[in-house]
Amino acid sequence: MQAKKEWIEIAVAALDQAYVPYSHFPVGACLVTADGKTYQGVNIENASFGLTNCAERTAFFKAVSEGERNFQHLVVAGHTPEPISPCGACRQVMSEFCDPSMPVTLVGDEGVIKEMTVSQLLPYSFTDKDL
Ligand code: THU
Repeated sequence: MQAKKEWIEIAVAALDQAYVPYSHFPVGACLVTADGKTYQGVNIENASFGLTNCAERTAFFKAVSEGERNFQHLVVAGHTPEPISPCGACRQVMSEFCDPSMPVTLVGDEGVIKEMTVSQLLPYSFTDKDL
């Protein structure tokens, strides 16, 4: 699919914008809205390490703060030999804003790719239905 190739390129390009002076571990994301708009995200670290924001959450918070609520795809890219694995906090944020069946493409170096869904990343998730 041509669109997906472009979304992967956007996530990989974002790696150059990551602010990672402490871990030197850049992560890039491309979040795609239902109508095809893309939001890039990068990890943004802080001297107070716990304040770090992951690339995935940066993309979600950028999009949601612009009024977006409907998403069709997320790509996450890392300079890792295997496809990068999103952290638990980011999986919970995906589960808040995305259908469980939404595809998530995980990308590593050398074009190594893993295709998953939001519910595969976070099964039996805590959602608004549990409140
Ligand atoms: N990181 C992300 O940006 N996304 C993930 O899903 C995994 C971890 C970042 C956070 C931190 O800046 C660096 O990777 C090392 O943990």
